[in-house]
Amino acid sequence: MPIASNDRPFASDDDPRRTGAAGAGSAAAAQTTGSAGAGSAGSTALDAADRATRVAERVQAVPGSGIRRFFDIIASMDHVISLGVGEPDFVTPWPISEAGIRAIEQGRTHYTSNLGLLELREAIARDLERRYGVEWDPREEMLITTGVSEGLDLAARAIINPGDEVIVADPSYAAHAPAIMLAGGVAVPVETRASEGFSLDPRVVEAAVTPKTRALLIAYPSNPTGAVLERSALEALADVARRHDLIVISDEIYDRLVYGGFEHTPIAALPGMKERTITLGGFSKSHAMTGWRVGWAAAPSDLFGGMLKIHQYAMMSAPTVAQYAALEAVRAGEEYVVAMREEYDRRRQLMWRGFNKLGLACAEPRGAFYAFPSVAQTGYDDETFAEQLLLREQVAVVPGSAFGAAGSGHVRACYATSYEEIEEALERIGRLLHYAPLAK
Ligand SMILES: Cc1ncc(COP(=O)(O)O)c(C=O)c1O
Repeated sequence: MPIASNDRPFASDDDPRRTGAAGAGSAAAAQTTGSAGAGSAGSTALDAADRATRVAERVQAVPGSGIRRFFDIIASMDHVISLGVGEPDFVTPWPISEAGIRAIEQGRTHYTSNLGLLELREAIARDLERRYGVEWDPREEMLITTGVSEGLDLAARAIINPGDEVIVADPSYAAHAPAIMLAGGVAVPVETRASEGFSLDPRVVEAAVTPKTRALLIAYPSNPTGAVLERSALEALADVARRHDLIVISDEIYDRLVYGGFEHTPIAALPGMKERTITLGGFSKSHAMTGWRVGWAAAPSDLFGGMLKIHQYAMMSAPTVAQYAALEAVRAGEEYVVAMREEYDRRRQLMWRGFNKLGLACAEPRGAFYAFPSVAQTGYDDETFAEQLLLREQVAVVPGSAFGAAGSGHVRACYATSYEEIEEALERIGRLLHYAPLAK
């Protein structure tokens, strides 16, 4: 069954992967700053926002990206192999796109219900019952969102009172802590370590709980580390949440992307957890639909009510055309998910084995589409490594410290790019290692 990557049919002429790294850089910059949609104009506007005193303190308090300068460099270069951007290189499978086109042709271009198309909610609820073994009521507990990004914002704003603490893994997706801070909360990072496969240690989480802790935000498989959570760790985390009466926000965006026979369990499937978990999912990664901006949120009805209130005033409804495309993705997208996952797996093996062969210690990533090798042994810090790699060999990776202090000394490399490009990138990285301080 055909899956097209972006350098094959359907890619537009101005696709960043065709023309070099300009768009890729700015997309990644937006992603790592957590300012999705800031786009290539982002840098100046964001700098100005940092300086502006008219901007609310809550917004000013969110740190800008430490790697903005780095992405500015990428934007000025040609022929960069980008392992930097965290999105599929595949084009949205054609039947899914066609469903969107059909919706336009049929004039389905108006608002939907605030909750989203009932048909779509019902289809997702059936799919989740099959895959997760959890039943959510599509009328009372399920909302179609503008991607998981909106779901995160809704979840945070619905539950956080000023000063409430939310525990997050360090390193983690760069938008997680900002979502908490923008909602008036305090993000409390708990360190995860390479030596433990970047798994979240329930004892460390429990030690971080204070009387102000409102919630725990988990996101496994992990961006940026590729780590998964073993069932035993998940059960222990659920136990911590129950004993301390915490809400769990579970970002399940990579739930379909696990490899090597690993079976992912969503935390809402554990006993007593559905009632305290806001589960967020979407189509961006699993179905190569990042630009459609559609996802879903499932939550117990009281929390759901709070999220819906924000969504109906802030967003009205998720994009209608994208909802029809998502409906097709749920109905008929499975074979594409499987085909893309198989291809990611091939690339994953190449990449993490390749890093280890080069002497860059890399734990086996078992989920998502990222490898997170250590660059400590080169003598460069992660930012210098990424900068040198870009300037000398035109390969873009993201410094691990962009995802939290515990990410420093590592870089994130995304293998949602072609096998051949990964081969070439590894060769170039090998060349860079000759210049590295410790090689001298
Ligand atoms: C962990 C994680 N959550 C959420 C998102 C955003 O997902 P969406 O495109 O559905 O808004 C990303 C995108 O990189 C991500 O890595």
